[in-house]
Parts: sequence; C-alpha cells; structure tokens
Amino acid sequence: MELTPMAPQCGVEISGVSLANCSDAKMREIKHAIYEHGVAVFRDQDFSPEDHIAFAKRWGGIDINNYFPLEDEHPEIAIVRKKPDQKTNIGGAWHTDHSYDQIPAMGSILVARELPPEGGDTLFAHMGAAYDSLSDELKAEIEGLEAFHTADHVYEEGGIYAQTDMGGDLRGQGLKTGATHPVVIRHPHTGRRLLYVNGAFTINFLGKTRAESLPLLHKLLDAAVRDDNQCRVKWRPGTVAIWDNRTTWHNAMNDYHGHYREMHRITLSGEALAA
Ligand code: OGA
Ligand code: MN
Repeated sequence: MELTPMAPQCGVEISGVSLANCSDAKMREIKHAIYEHGVAVFRDQDFSPEDHIAFAKRWGGIDINNYFPLEDEHPEIAIVRKKPDQKTNIGGAWHTDHSYDQIPAMGSILVARELPPEGGDTLFAHMGAAYDSLSDELKAEIEGLEAFHTADHVYEEGGIYAQTDMGGDLRGQGLKTGATHPVVIRHPHTGRRLLYVNGAFTINFLGKTRAESLPLLHKLLDAAVRDDNQCRVKWRPGTVAIWDNRTTWHNAMNDYHGHYREMHRITLSGEALAA
C-alpha cells in the first residue's frame, strides 16, 4: 500500500489496496491515515453496494442519514444525487456531516456511481490545520467555549432546501435536531486539537444569541477554509473517498448544471466528542 499526501495539510491518496478485499492490518493503517489526513482517496475500486456495506461494517456501526433518499434495495446507502434539470446540489457549502447529533457520525464512505463529464469535485479542509493557524488571541477566546448545532433550518418545511429544487427529493422535514459540542475538540484517536464549528449547522455559542455569536463564528469560519488547509478530490469512475467528519469539513462543487451526478454514501457511526 502506498500513501501519497494530496496537499500539505489535508488529504491522502492510497494506492495498492482493494477495499473490497482488505486485510485487517491494511484496514488499521487506512483508519489511522484517515484520522490523521482527514480524507483518503482510493482509485479504480471494484466496489459493489454489498462491498460498500460490508466494508462500512468493519468500521463499526452505520448511521442512516435522516434526510437523503435511500437506495431501495440497500437502505444503509444514502443517495447523493443531482439531476440534469436541478440547480441545487447536496452539500454545496462548507459543512461537516451530522454535527447536529449528540454523537456525530465519525465519517462517510462516498462512492462515485455516475459522474458529470467535468466538474463535481469535492473540497476538503483540515480542522487541525485550521485550529493551528488561529492567532493566540483567538485560541484564548474560544478556549472552553461550547456551541449549539442543529439541522432544522436546513431541512425543515420552509427551510433552506425546501426553498430549492432539491426540496422535493429529501425526507425528514418534521424532525427536530440539536446538540451542543465544544468549539475545540480533541480527536478521539490522534489527540489533535480540531476546530469543531461549521457554517451549515453551528448556530450560536452557549450563553450568546445568534446575533452575538456571528462575529466570532465568521472569524473562525474564514480561518478554517484558508486555501492552504484544503485539498480537492477529483472524482473518476471507481473512485471511493472516505473522510473523517471531526478532522475535516467538505464542500461539494456545484459546477455541472445540465448533467447527472450520483454518489452513494454510507455514514459511519462516531463517538462522543470532548474538548
Ligand atoms: C455528503 C456530501 C459531497 C459530494 O455526501 O455528505 O456532502 O461531493 N457530498 O457529493
Ligand atoms: Mn456532506
């Protein structure tokens, strides 16, 4: 197995392994690389929906996404799809998945099933590098802070997606979500300090209103997505990417209007987060 970093701070490409037939030793190495680099990309994989599910189960539990359409025959698999006549995509802003859960998903295994001729890349940003890049004053300001996260404004009736042409494809409009997490968490496996607020689901700092929280939130969000914290995943047929939601945020480029894109996602269960 060969590991090649994709960018100085974020992402690793792993070759010389077939995910569908991977030894326990390679599995341990892959997990560690993802915890550390945030996202790993595997090319030319022969990876059926059954392989996808079996591989996910080797990590632990599967968290079924409450909102995306599910694959009919394999309800463990969520479908991340944009049709040629749709203008809105799923995940088209910086976010980390499921931060609105009290025990957020560890990460996802995303498989390219149908790609547009060009575009549809996914950007990732490393939250350890983001935290390290903050000034000492900013680090002191967020020490010990907690923040509230919810998905309700995104997915509810009349919410962000409901106002778009993606609204009709999504489920779960009546659900209520909400969780509080430290603004700086320690990665459960690497111990690295990571910034854990995001633009999609983080609403306010505890003890402050939304309006009072916004200036600091914007400062952190801007710092988090500096170019040098990022890497870009260019999908090809057979590409599988696995990311860690604690170590990274991601952003799905929406630059392929008029074309179809379909990805299969399995969301991996995580563990409680601590400062
Ligand atoms: C996701 C997501 C990114 C993409 O599946 O969580 O944000 O590129 N998708 O489709
Ligand atoms: Mn996402």
